[in-house]
Amino acid sequence: MTTKVLFVCLGNICRSPTAHGVFEKLVADAGLQDKIEIDSAGTGDWHIGRPPDERTQRAAKQRGYDLSHLRARQVTGADFHDFDYVLAMDKSNLKDLRSMAGDKSNCHVSLFLDFAESSWKREVPDPYYGGEDGFETVLELVEDGARGLLETIKGAGVSEQ
Ligand code: 4NP
Repeated sequence: MTTKVLFVCLGNICRSPTAHGVFEKLVADAGLQDKIEIDSAGTGDWHIGRPPDERTQRAAKQRGYDLSHLRARQVTGADFHDFDYVLAMDKSNLKDLRSMAGDKSNCHVSLFLDFAESSWKREVPDPYYGGEDGFETVLELVEDGARGLLETIKGAGVSEQ
């Protein structure tokens, strides 16, 4: 059994691809790449098919994460059946996801930072219209959330064998 995780933001070119790449590396470093599947998507459709924003890729690369293989896509209704965790970067994304999911889904839909262990912040702020430091903040929050998420999934019984 694999655990499937979908990270969601608005455009799928800044925050959710960052979470995708950071969690991918954490999972690979833990040797769990065959047990945990990862994807990301946007609630909006403006950037479908595009790689992550250059500023996002640059900030990620400085911390050792390669996001160049990722391409934006939009969330679909099937995602709520295909994934075990659908994790929103902010409350607006979460509201959109909840209205899409209706009551049909039994996957876990929540804010990604609910899993963070260090930060008291609940949302990953949208860096798109801001300066370079916003992309750093995204990485810091995402690394915190990713560590906590992996511990939760391991605690729920992912085998390391
Ligand atoms: P993201 O950032 O949701 O973290 O990918 C954004 C990217 C693009 C836009 C908004 C937010 N946009 O309006 O195009």
